[in-house]
Amino acid sequence: MRGAPQISASILNADFSRLGDEVDRAVAGGVDSIHLDVMDGHFVDNLTMGPVVAAAVRPRTHLPFHSHLMISNPLAYAERFADAGSDLIIFHVEVDADPARVIEAIETAGKRPGIALNPETPAESVLPWLDRVDLLLVMTVHPGWGGQPFLRDVLPKIRQLRGEIDRRGLDLPIGIDGGVKIDTIGDAHAAGGEVLVVGSGLYSTDGDLGPTVAALREAARARDNAET
Ligand code: DX5
Ligand code: ZN
Repeated sequence: MRGAPQISASILNADFSRLGDEVDRAVAGGVDSIHLDVMDGHFVDNLTMGPVVAAAVRPRTHLPFHSHLMISNPLAYAERFADAGSDLIIFHVEVDADPARVIEAIETAGKRPGIALNPETPAESVLPWLDRVDLLLVMTVHPGWGGQPFLRDVLPKIRQLRGEIDRRGLDLPIGIDGGVKIDTIGDAHAAGGEVLVVGSGLYSTDGDLGPTVAALREAARARDNAET
């Protein structure tokens, strides 16, 4: 059974010339967490932010920081992102590292682990770790950029993973990341997504983000009401 929709602001699409203010805008708009997209130019073909950026904006809010590590060597950086103020550190199951060691490194650093899988990666790859992590992040775009279209082909996999989590009676939220906007958030939530990461769907708005966040939450809930 999925919980109420949570909106997580991906700051990758924010104005980097004033990133702290952009975090403030999301917080004032009523989001539930801040999503930091960390890319190393190796696991994905883009370079974005390191621990120094996370630490720079950390004092702006008490909301949870979810650091999404799209990097080939999460073991080497887990502690540094923990020290920078991350609350949840998400690594990819596709990297060439033992997930158990990465999970232990994150827990040893006193933080909560999350695991992510790319659109083409089968659900089976994360089944061994569902009872070891605090968030399962399902990519609905190929990671590397914001502003990409939502891959609807991933919806059946989300439903499959939601079913498996419920069958096991685990308290594990599913995050949906990539292309989540007003016209896709309903399907993402209905398929089983609770933590809905929104980048360009949020930061394409100037000024007050309150109405956009409220509209996104309402669009997610609309499917709940339709199904009951
Ligand atoms: C993509 C990132 C996403 C992205 C979300 O690799 O992991 O978090 O920034 O942005 P939108 O919502 O624009 O797809
Ligand atoms: Zn992300």
